[in-house]
Order: sequence, then C-alpha cells, then structure tokens
Amino acid sequence: MDTFRTFYDFIELKEHTKHLGEPLSIGLVPTMGALHKGHLALVEKAANENDIVVVTIFVNPKQFNNSSDLKQYPRTIETDIALLSAHKNVIICIPNESDVYPKDDPYSPINLGILNDILEGKYRPGHFPGVAHVVHNLFHFIEPSSAYFGLKDYQQFAVIREMVNQTQLKVRIEGCETVRDKNGLALSSRNFNLNEEQLKDALIIVDTLRFIKNNKNRFEIDHLLETAKGFFNKGKLTLEYLDIVDAQSFEKVNKLNQKSVCCIAAFCGQVRLIDNILL
Ligand code: PAJ
Repeated sequence: MDTFRTFYDFIELKEHTKHLGEPLSIGLVPTMGALHKGHLALVEKAANENDIVVVTIFVNPKQFNNSSDLKQYPRTIETDIALLSAHKNVIICIPNESDVYPKDDPYSPINLGILNDILEGKYRPGHFPGVAHVVHNLFHFIEPSSAYFGLKDYQQFAVIREMVNQTQLKVRIEGCETVRDKNGLALSSRNFNLNEEQLKDALIIVDTLRFIKNNKNRFEIDHLLETAKGFFNKGKLTLEYLDIVDAQSFEKVNKLNQKSVCCIAAFCGQVRLIDNILL
C-alpha cells in the first residue's frame, strides 16, 4: 500500500485513513521533527508491525519550560518530509496548535507522582505535564493501535505509560533502544545545534554512563556517583544531574542489586542533552 501523504489537520488525516479501508492497524510515531536515525528506527519498527505509520511533527510549546529553548529548537521540516518519503506506508501529519489543543480540549490533567518530582521532572517543571497532554491528544485524535517511543527519553517513556494507564486509552506502547552515532553519542535533534568540537566534547556524557556501568560493582552508589562526577568534570560540559534510580519505580536506590537506570542531563554550551544507561 503506497500511502505517502502529508496532512495538516486531523480531520483530513482521519478521512484518508478511512478511505484506505478498515480495520487498519495504525502505528503512531510522535516527534518534534528535526528527524535523525533514532526517529527513523521508530518509524521502521512501526512499519514492520502495522498496516500504516503516522508520523506527527509538532514542536509542542507546552513542554518547553523555557521560551528561548523553544525558539532555538531545530526545525528542518523539508528535510524531514524528504527523509520520510523514502518510507512506504508512512503518512506525515503536521498539525497546528489549535488542532492539537482545541477549545474543547479532551485532556484532564493527571497526577504524574514521583515522575514529575525527580530528574527531568524536577529540572524542567511543566515539561512532563506538557508531554502527557500532547501525547494524550495525539492518541485521542489519531486513535493509533500502537505508539512508538525511544528509551533515550527513559523517563518520558514512563510518563507516557503512566498517562495511558490512568486515562485507559487503548493503545499499545512500544519502547525502542537508543540509537547512537559511531562514537556512542545518543542521536538527538538538539545535536543539530552543536558544532564539530562540541559533538566531540559531548561524548563525555556516554563515557560517564559507561564509567558507571563498568564500575558498578566496585563502589557503593554514593561513592560511584561522586567518582563519576569527578570523571565527568574533566570534560567541558556542565552537569545538571547524574543519578541512579530504580528502573521501574524511579525511587532512589541504595544498592545496585536491583534493576536500575543511571540518568544524566548536561549542558554543552547552550544545548541541553540527556542520556541514560540501564545498570
Ligand atoms: P522528539 O525529541 O522529536 O523524539 C521523538 C521520539 O524519538 C521520542 O520517542 C524519542 O524518545 C525518540 N528518540 C529521540 N532520539 C532517539 C534516539 N537516539 N534513539 C531512539 N529514539 C530516539 O520526544 C519528543 O520528541 C517529544 O517529547 C514528543 C514525545 C514527540 C511529545 O512532544
């Protein structure tokens, strides 16, 4: 089925998917554009598991807690469309703000609990409520069978699962491994704002995560984190947080005998980067 089309509102999108015949399984890949191979891996997985894939491109103002960050977020819409046009069975949807957030908004805010209080939740107030809101509305209007998210944004993935549990939307949530460049740097749209030297400097992030993983049996957690911070500080980036939490509950862990995740956020110049590693 060759379905490649770009839509700018949900009504036209729904009409088009109806014309394709039903029942169709729709795999949704929500993005904010500036696409890279990490996004494309989600698209490929979705294409393998569904009749059609809908990729949304929407830079969601509600999830930016800082207006200059929103302004500087990379936008490469023409390249994005060209990249996706190479994929069969992919439909692009580029909605506008009033489509995503209509006057009679279908979303009632939920309590994200600990997810909103630690790590990204703590350092970016309002970010996760904004993510939960936009993803809820995309699910509500597009009605996908499955939706695909990257584990690079590990805490975001947990937020989306929590939102789906609480709102009881019928959509299967799939997580995809982090795609990295040949040196290990996690691909990110924000990397478009880094110069060549900064791309090298940013490797301290993945090196620090690997340092933690390689030394996890050698030290107690607090000592491990302190030593890793010392390692990180030899580089040029500014650390926002480096912490280890339970990979399911996000509670603080005291010992590394349970499945844990180490999460990091740091600034490379003005650009804020995040990454994580399962321990
Ligand atoms: P964005 O940063 O564009 O990412 C879209 C999806 O791609 C997310 O699920 C993200 O986790 C995934 N992704 C990004 N980099 C990746 C990588 N290196 N490997 C694998 N997957 C990767 O995340 C968002 O947009 C927004 O918050 C969104 C969910 C679209 C809501 O606005």
